[in-house]
Amino acid sequence: MNNFTFNIPTEIRFGKGQISCLPEELSQYGKRVLLTYGGGSIKRSGLYDKVKELLKDFEVYELGGIEPNPKLKYVVTGAMLCKEKVIDVILAVGGGSTIDASKHIACAACYDGPAWNLMMDRTLIKRALPIAVVLTICATGSEMNSGGVITNESTQEKLEINSPLLYPRLSICDPTYLYTLPPKQTAAGSVDILSHAMEQYFQPNDEAYITDVLTEGVMKTVIKYAPIAMKIPDNYEARSNLMWASTVGLNHLLTVGKGGAWSVHMIEHVVSAFYDLTHGVGLAILTPAWMRYVLSDDNKKRFARFAREVFGVTVQDDMTAALMGIDCVEQFFRSLDMPLSFSEVGIPSDQFEKIAEESIRTSGLSTRAYVKLDKDDVETILEMCK
Ligand code: NZQ
Ligand code: ZN
Repeated sequence: MNNFTFNIPTEIRFGKGQISCLPEELSQYGKRVLLTYGGGSIKRSGLYDKVKELLKDFEVYELGGIEPNPKLKYVVTGAMLCKEKVIDVILAVGGGSTIDASKHIACAACYDGPAWNLMMDRTLIKRALPIAVVLTICATGSEMNSGGVITNESTQEKLEINSPLLYPRLSICDPTYLYTLPPKQTAAGSVDILSHAMEQYFQPNDEAYITDVLTEGVMKTVIKYAPIAMKIPDNYEARSNLMWASTVGLNHLLTVGKGGAWSVHMIEHVVSAFYDLTHGVGLAILTPAWMRYVLSDDNKKRFARFAREVFGVTVQDDMTAALMGIDCVEQFFRSLDMPLSFSEVGIPSDQFEKIAEESIRTSGLSTRAYVKLDKDDVETILEMCK
């Protein structure tokens, strides 16, 4: 096992009705709140009204309309608003996109230069406003981690900002808020959770047995409950298990004692920067191709273990089991109605070379990944997804 430090300062309030703690919890930071949200789902579900009612004694300013794959323009507007109104705390009500934009706003509001500088040089993040979250889609784990992914629309870069100052102080995770999710978002979120677990599972260090077993548990949870949540949107058992799987899936617990660069995510972020694709959809397309491409005699034992522990494959031969595991992943994504090729989502192949170049430039794919990849390797993986 590698050395590690584990310190997550986020308080999670999980379950039905937990939102009632909001006034008391927020009041410790002050009275001036920036409420951030997405394109309108919280207005349709009634959550917006509920939050406004709870915050009736606060001075609430709003930044709505934050789109999936959030753009830098929201960060710039949000940071300006925070400075102008002397905001005490940001309350993000939504999913990864709203939370991530809020994280970037939180530090940009305490910085005098252009917000994108903080993305390029993390040492510039010296202070950040406190952030609280009401989670409405389970996928990214942003509710309990220190990262945020933002797209710079002018350079077509989608990169991650990260600082210990960006952990939400509080996240309210009420599974009933997931009931209104459309099936596509339930599926995309589930693929994302599974992919986070896989990125951490397929890493060079395989001595962290406890971490691997926990990771297998998260993967099995997604495989068991995503189909139920798709079929019965208000199934509390399914929604609550998926919601906690999303949080545990990317709050550092599954990376403990391991480490190394991620692979599929680093390619997908570039694809979604170019084509504004739903993150989980991009992962569903790329994951089976990445698995087929990197599988070899050197790593077939890990792939076989994945197939056996996660999907219950019983075949003795490691390579056969490994290949069956990849088929199972593909079938699972298909069962959630996820696309499995770029042509299904209208993405042409003419930018593959540029996407491959960017993936290598902006990540540790060629230096620290599970199987190191160069530009040609990534281009081949993209071709396999045509
Ligand atoms: O915008 P609204 O109207 O709210 O609709 C959203 C959006 O269209 C909708 N939605 C959310 N909750 C809903 C709902 N619709 C009905 N009922 C509800 N309860 O779902 C759509 C997607 O929302 P979004 O916030 O974009 O989803 P997600 O949580 O998957 O976030 C994706 C973003 O997070 C980044 C992704 O790259 C992408 O930009 N990631 C962030 C990570 C992190 N911070 O740690 C790690 C991830 O790997 C990922 O890269
Ligand atoms: Zn992800």
